[in-house]
Amino acid sequence: MQTGNFTWDNRITQLVQTKYPIIQAPMFGVATPQMVAAAGEIGVLGTLPLGDLPASKCTALIRATKQLTSHPFAVNLFLNPLPERTAELERQYTRTKQFIEDLAQKSNITVNLAPYDEVQYTDYRDQVDAIIAEGCKIVSFTFGVFDDSTIAKLKAHHIVLIGTCTSVEEAKVLEKKGIDLICVQGIEAGGHQGTFLSETLPKIGGLSLLAQVSDAVRVPLIYAGGLYNAKTILATKALGAEGFAIGSLLMGSQESNLAEFEKEALRHAKANDLVLTKSFSGRYARGLNNTFTKQLDHTDYILPYPFQNKLTVALRRIAKQNEDPEFLSLWTGQSRGPYSGASIKAILTQLIHEVETHSSTTD
Ligand SMILES: Cc1cc2nc3c(=O)[nH]c(=O)nc-3n(C[C@H](O)[C@H](O)[C@H](O)COP(=O)(O)O)c2cc1C
Repeated sequence: MQTGNFTWDNRITQLVQTKYPIIQAPMFGVATPQMVAAAGEIGVLGTLPLGDLPASKCTALIRATKQLTSHPFAVNLFLNPLPERTAELERQYTRTKQFIEDLAQKSNITVNLAPYDEVQYTDYRDQVDAIIAEGCKIVSFTFGVFDDSTIAKLKAHHIVLIGTCTSVEEAKVLEKKGIDLICVQGIEAGGHQGTFLSETLPKIGGLSLLAQVSDAVRVPLIYAGGLYNAKTILATKALGAEGFAIGSLLMGSQESNLAEFEKEALRHAKANDLVLTKSFSGRYARGLNNTFTKQLDHTDYILPYPFQNKLTVALRRIAKQNEDPEFLSLWTGQSRGPYSGASIKAILTQLIHEVETHSSTTD
């Protein structure tokens, strides 16, 4: 796709077979099959978030998406290594469960969180088998990297792999493993940080990270974190990004899974209202600071992922039913741009037009 001297065609559009190297970012809990399909219809790569859902649910969501679109789309998985189940973990879990139930009760929310024995998690190998069986051609992932035999299996099915890094070291690991595209995620991004080499967050600003990763690896890069208009896209293009992942800008859209009260809470959020918190899931994620994050952060009532995530599910569900933004995770990045309630098509078409116009006036 060429407009004046500006061309969108590059290694990424060729690899994923889209008109634009723009990616509707994976957003678990927000991105729906409708959102993925709407992105695909205008030549953007939609991403269906599958998180750590059981294989049967992955299959159902992939099928629902395929019914809506024949355009290519990516599926996205969480690859966090699973902590060992120990007596100490069980003790911590039970103690944290009690603390959170008591905290909720103080706000008149009665909730029975899942007991330790009921916590189940998914092996990504089962998800991968479901994805291959459904004929998916693009798989992105975060929180880790596939083991070598899974990479070989995915490659044998000619599946394009997109890994996520939050440091130069992680980018180098992904390149060495033969991952086709690397998503460089800046600290300003909404939702979970994809960090997998260290327990602590690298906390590197997106521009610093992107420039350094682009110097360090040869794999085509997608940038994620704070993109919301022509200037942000063109600035990251200048720093070496060939693909552009858009998350928070799309959260208020018609196709977003957020309820109206959630959209409203996010619409009025100021920079100081945001926090990087481990309180809901046990992994750092950027979202709205609220009663729950304030009471949990900096305490030892935070279990390793995915236990904290599984533990807080029931509370988040009740809070959503009650339309209570104080006890649910409302992820969002540092830049939300216009945070429009329009359709995905309208928001992304406007963004693409703005990039083309801006670049022709600055040539
Ligand atoms: C609500 C929400 C959910 C997210 N869920 C996922 C996910 O399931 N998988 C993933 O790789 N990244 C996830 N992310 C991170 C985004 O893919 C992306 O990196 C981020 O939104 C980019 O920054 P931005 O929000 O400033 O555009 C999520 C982000 C948000 C805001």
